[in-house]
Amino acid sequence: MRQSWFPFLLGLLFLVAIIQQGNTLGRQMTENNSSPEPVATGNSGTLWHGTNHLQIPFGTAQGNLAWYGYELIANTSFYLGPKGTAGQISNAMNCQNCHLGAGTLPFANNFGKVYATYPQFRSRSNKVQSIYGRINDCLERSMNGKLLDTASLEIRAMYAYIQWLGQDVPKGNNPAGTGVPKLEYINRAASPDEGKKVYVATCQSCHGANGQGQPNVGGTGYIYPPLWGAGSYNDGAGLYRLSSFAGFVKYNMPFGADYNKPQLTTEEAWDVAAFVNSQPRPHKDQSMDWKNIRLKPADVPFGPYPDSFSTQQHKYGPYKPIIEAAKRRGN
Ligand code: HEC
Ligand code: HEC
Repeated sequence: MRQSWFPFLLGLLFLVAIIQQGNTLGRQMTENNSSPEPVATGNSGTLWHGTNHLQIPFGTAQGNLAWYGYELIANTSFYLGPKGTAGQISNAMNCQNCHLGAGTLPFANNFGKVYATYPQFRSRSNKVQSIYGRINDCLERSMNGKLLDTASLEIRAMYAYIQWLGQDVPKGNNPAGTGVPKLEYINRAASPDEGKKVYVATCQSCHGANGQGQPNVGGTGYIYPPLWGAGSYNDGAGLYRLSSFAGFVKYNMPFGADYNKPQLTTEEAWDVAAFVNSQPRPHKDQSMDWKNIRLKPADVPFGPYPDSFSTQQHKYGPYKPIIEAAKRRGN
């Protein structure tokens, strides 16, 4: 008798502990409205953090849809990965691997501004894009997969979760701490050689000597997601740009670091970005991207460019001369 109750009690305790932790985390984040460096571009003044998914209402049609959306974002591979139960359209990563805490944590590529700021013009596709289109972008590039039909339950569920998370953000508002953190540029090219040293010392223990990550026991996903190789994001993904990678990693890696206590220096973050993004990964045809090349950010590693700087410099920097030249041209 005692023995059969034990696992149940343990489970209950675990659940209570998780809820407690979620609450404390939420409080800590509200109280801390500053970040160590000028990484925020927001205009609302308060640092955004998302509500824990356990607060999603139960039993309503909209609530159930948002719950499923949370599940899809936290455990994407289980549903949509190579052995996915709802379809096999993506690699074995989870959205949450890059949108930490299922898109709720400040400076961790969260979803805080998405519902308030989409549809929006996007310079990469040169058109106005919906939230569905943006989710599909990450599926196709960051998850090296295929698009979801906009009528599918799965994309509507992810939309419902993102809408629920962002429901209190006023339309058009871009609160501090949302999206990918911006890092200041360094005055030299980022160095793959220096980055390799950072990788071996601070990343390899989890992400592996060949960047391959560590699969979970069932082979349905990862304990530690891959950073390069066949299972990783493709070269059309946001993280393939050094600025996004460096900003994300400085404030979130090694796992456990956050904007309050970053463990990498800014230089280390740029260098490790250069190392990881000089390793092999899946290729995506991007000939249709950036039709207006004048809107191309300095660190897009593929030409053509509206200037005469080399592809090498666009990929690794130094970026300041490129940005100065663009200003002189008037864009
Ligand atoms: C390999 C990392 C990675 C994975 C996996 C990933 N994303 Fe993203 N996502 C990014 C990055 C980086 C950006 C920002 C890119 C940029 O702005 O250039 C982004 C941006 C977004 C945005 C827009 C955010 C904003 O503030 O404008 C949405 C929405 C989004 N992702 C949804 C998803 C969903 C849903 C999934 C899973 C199906 C997913 N992402 C998987 C890296 C990832
Ligand atoms: C203690 C283990 C650990 C260490 C050390 C670590 N990471 Fe991670 N990393 C993770 C985990 C776990 C995730 C996924 C987070 C999640 O799903 O909540 C992740 C996710 C990532 C991602 C986004 C997902 C992907 O696979 O592209 C990047 C990029 C990343 N780590 C880079 C780094 C870099 C660079 C370092 C070294 C500076 C590093 N990590 C050190 C555990 C670690």
